[in-house]
Amino acid sequence: MSNNAKARVIGMGSYLPEKVLSNQDLEKLVDTSDEWIFSRTGMKERRIARDDEHASTMGAEAGRRALATAGKSADDVDLILVATMTPDYTSPSTAGLVQQMLSAKNAAAMDVQAMCSGYLYALTTAKAYIESGLYRCVLVVASEKMSSVVDYTDRNTCILFGDGASASVVTGEGAGLQVDTVSLGSDGSLAELIWIPGGGSRCPPSAEMLESGKHYFQMSGREVYKHAVRRMASTAQTCLDTAGVTADQISWVVPHQANLRIMEAITKSFVIPSERVYKTVHKYGNTSASGVAIALDDLTREHALSAGERVLLIAFGGGLTWGAMVLKQVEG
Ligand SMILES: CC(C)(COP(=O)(O)OP(=O)(O)OC[C@H]1O[C@@H](n2cnc3c(N)ncnc32)[C@H](O)[C@@H]1OP(=O)(O)O)[C@@H](O)C(=O)NCCC(=O)NCCS
Repeated sequence: MSNNAKARVIGMGSYLPEKVLSNQDLEKLVDTSDEWIFSRTGMKERRIARDDEHASTMGAEAGRRALATAGKSADDVDLILVATMTPDYTSPSTAGLVQQMLSAKNAAAMDVQAMCSGYLYALTTAKAYIESGLYRCVLVVASEKMSSVVDYTDRNTCILFGDGASASVVTGEGAGLQVDTVSLGSDGSLAELIWIPGGGSRCPPSAEMLESGKHYFQMSGREVYKHAVRRMASTAQTCLDTAGVTADQISWVVPHQANLRIMEAITKSFVIPSERVYKTVHKYGNTSASGVAIALDDLTREHALSAGERVLLIAFGGGLTWGAMVLKQVEG
């Protein structure tokens, strides 16, 4: 492989837990309704992991499926990146656990933390490693057990999230989705808009911390909504400009699956018809870092892409973090 080979995703695989949590189920937990949830978010149901399923186990299963799709073995992998905000442990990394579960004995392993933008940040990291020539086969895993950090008495947040994982095999050769252009950004001054305030070194676990609920995911929904629309639209436009392509040259847009209304608002701003915006939010809810990856995998299974077709990924998450990516289908 030459060092100027461009990174591309040559195979994907996903894992969604079997248990379905519907809007009707949520009506029994908090003061809400199917009508409210669907009209505000576009969500109908989401998946919830069993007690014995974790970010690592779901990520490893997605990894096995991605390797099978790509025709690679675990021995071929020389780096595993796991994007997650719900790691099995604070330390060590979930990537190390995935490495052991896959018996990927030749792989280095580390986590990437960019909350809901995690897949784009991890894929960008893989691109940099592949194109520098340092690694040849990177397994990018995005896996979340959001149900472990959601407060199921808080109707503002518990309706939004689901669990699930997706993995992508990234190399410098072969047929697949080439990572052409990337645009990432962050604004740490707004960290407290979406966060889990307790459990880290600043507010370590204690009886008082648990009492105050600081170990739960917290979000200022209305504020986040405004930032999400603004940042996703502008980063997508920057990415298109850098790629030198216009919106009509994009076959599909795969945005972060946080809310149908957010998706509609951002794609309107650079004029992409709704039918070219790929959505899984109705069936899986917001699965944080894994959302864009699960939707991209779903898209490529439902619609075969021809050489030259482009897909635009757009993400937004806590941090704040955001990003966009233009992928192009290439032949081997
Ligand atoms: C969370 C979100 C769906 C709420 O929708 P919204 O239209 O902004 O709703 P508001 O927050 O303005 O709340 C409207 C009312 O509904 C109520 N409400 C909140 N959750 C509710 C629920 N599940 N069921 C019924 N009512 C609810 C609120 O209490 C509020 O009542 P009030 O006006 O009496 O105070 C929306 O703000 C959103 O999607 N934000 C971004 C979330 C996101 O993308 N997060 C992840 C980023 S990575």
